[in-house]
Amino acid sequence: QRHLISAADLSRDDAVLILDTAEEMARVADRPIKKLPTLRGRTVVNLFFEDSTRTRISFEAAEKRLSADVINFSAKGSSVSKGESLKDTAQTLEAMGVDAVVIRHGASGAPYRLATSGWIDAAVINAGDGTHQHPTQALLDAFTMRRRLVGRDAGLGQDLAGKRVTLVGDVLHSRVARSNVDLLHTLGAEVTLVAPPTLIPVGVESWPCEVSYDLDSTLPKCDAVMMLRVQRERMNAAFFPTEREYSRRYGLDGDRMAKLPEHAIVMHPGPMVRGMEITAEVADSDRCTAVEQVANGVSIRMAVLYLLLGGNEPAAAPLRAEEK
Ligand code: CP
Repeated sequence: QRHLISAADLSRDDAVLILDTAEEMARVADRPIKKLPTLRGRTVVNLFFEDSTRTRISFEAAEKRLSADVINFSAKGSSVSKGESLKDTAQTLEAMGVDAVVIRHGASGAPYRLATSGWIDAAVINAGDGTHQHPTQALLDAFTMRRRLVGRDAGLGQDLAGKRVTLVGDVLHSRVARSNVDLLHTLGAEVTLVAPPTLIPVGVESWPCEVSYDLDSTLPKCDAVMMLRVQRERMNAAFFPTEREYSRRYGLDGDRMAKLPEHAIVMHPGPMVRGMEITAEVADSDRCTAVEQVANGVSIRMAVLYLLLGGNEPAAAPLRAEEK
């Protein structure tokens, strides 16, 4: 059984295959009927123990575009609120015969536990666990960078070798940052983290990236700058600079954006806190790819589901079969 638990588990060839397959899947979105028969008769459960807008909706859209049967499960309103464990929830799903589980959980390691426990015989896809990993987010971010910085057609088969990517903000609590550092390193990019010292994790020296506390001197050297949300719900207020201080030193406004090279893009995984890590002027500018990242998320999640559940046929096969 194959799973997607961590971006660190992907080799360069695995990651490039997913990005290339996502380009094939993006063609489905360009057609009048945005559906493929690939996962007809397969059941996918979206098991969300934590809130989500983008990840949850885009997984559901991806599953439906591949013709899977979709079951949506939210911890709120389920028997989890009566104290039911992950094991019993998983075994309930197993009894219903599911082929894949997309799981978001507040506890780091919950998807790994589900994949390796033997409770369930389904592919497990991590949709974000605690502060640990969010691999499909890193894949859609890499897909967006490759399209914008290398090119949609020119990018096929390519990685992100030599591209300079800066991640700014609450690295400490960010599964998006961890997944991106792992995947971008695998794809050959040079990654710099910029954050206040209190929002840099202990042990960052062993991560394959540079660390800086000075955003202004880093911006002129970026091909992409990714602003991270400040996750106040996960932090002790005592460790956090004031909102005003944070925005002044680490927020991206129009003046700071002007320091980027002309070709550079501004990214944000969402949800954005406008006025905190990013101003409305930057968020709504042509250089900001936040909405494009959401659209690309559907193609990436279709590619991941296809590669995990759809067999070994070439990525283009379902598209060609449909076009006959
Ligand atoms: N980027 C992201 O994971 O957003 P959601 O929390 O809305 O899914």
